[in-house]
Amino acid sequence: MRAALYAPGLGYYTAGATKLGFGGDFVTAPEMSPFFGAALADAFVGLGAAHVLELGAGSGKLARDFLAASNGVHSYTILEVSADLRDRQQSMLTGQKIVWLDALPEQIDGLVIANEVLDAVPCEIVRFHDNRYEQARVAVQGESFSWSWQPLLHGALLDAAKLRIPPIEGYTTELNLEAEALVATLAARLSHGVLCFIDYGFPRREYYLPDRSTGTLACHYQQRVHFDPLILAGLQDITAHVDFTAMAEAGVDGGASVISYSTQAQFLLHAGLLQRLESYEFARDAQRATAFGAVQKLLSPAEMGELFKVLIVAKGVAVEQLAGFSTLDQSYRL
Ligand SMILES: C[S@@+](CC[C@H](N)C(=O)[O-])C[C@H]1O[C@@H](n2cnc3c(N)ncnc32)[C@H](O)[C@@H]1O
Repeated sequence: MRAALYAPGLGYYTAGATKLGFGGDFVTAPEMSPFFGAALADAFVGLGAAHVLELGAGSGKLARDFLAASNGVHSYTILEVSADLRDRQQSMLTGQKIVWLDALPEQIDGLVIANEVLDAVPCEIVRFHDNRYEQARVAVQGESFSWSWQPLLHGALLDAAKLRIPPIEGYTTELNLEAEALVATLAARLSHGVLCFIDYGFPRREYYLPDRSTGTLACHYQQRVHFDPLILAGLQDITAHVDFTAMAEAGVDGGASVISYSTQAQFLLHAGLLQRLESYEFARDAQRATAFGAVQKLLSPAEMGELFKVLIVAKGVAVEQLAGFSTLDQSYRL
């Protein structure tokens, strides 16, 4: 997954594929509607965060819309692992005072946003087979690839597998210790501030349900979804749903507190998305209809509203400043 997505110059995110948006392979919330970035700015206005760090900023639209809707942000920084996307972000955000980072800062103050980033962090596939846990590896076979399974005998992956993956013959799923490490590192480096992760996923008990026996790994190619990551290497997106229980635990391991876990719809409604939409002065009715249609997709339980979750963790004064989020919080589900 790492090579297929991030091999320099060859991977899906590092080479020149269109990737995001209606002309690419999949559409994310910032691609769908500028009101998404504006709602994020509104959601955290009470924090008075002077510094924003966005991870994996895609085309740069979220940064554009967040900045257009907010006052008082002194610095907006982006950490983007894809050089290709970084170039696109720099074109999209020409004239904005944005700094691109090459590594996570040692100390983080303010607001960190990661929309659909955790699902793109390379995960491991593990199965229960013949009374033991096995890790999927990818072997080269002539011109193509095939799966090769190796027993998990020790280590953190086996520990996580034993704790999370039901010992049902053939059960195959994902574990993403790298994404957990990313969240734990962000939390540990946070002095005063908030981490906001938005992504598709579930609490652990739903993720590893006995019935979900083939996992969540999926590939996106030209607006279609399929489940074979061994084809179209470097040309298609590969992604897995997020175990939000694991991410919340990682945040707590890094010394932060969970402020809120909610659906995207609840979060955006709390942020005042509908008020923003209603008060916007559209030049034409057709534009209004398009904007309402896009917002409907962000909110609808049949589209992104319920599958997408928002996890907010915080440290320092931010914990008190975000008290309003307690009405949303469903972290008892984690
Ligand atoms: C599915 S795209 C989402 C892009 C954008 N946030 C959006 O919503 O349109 C995933 C993004 O995360 C970036 N990414 C993946 N791993 C990352 C990491 N460890 N740190 C920062 N960015 C990362 C990818 O390069 C890509 O820009």
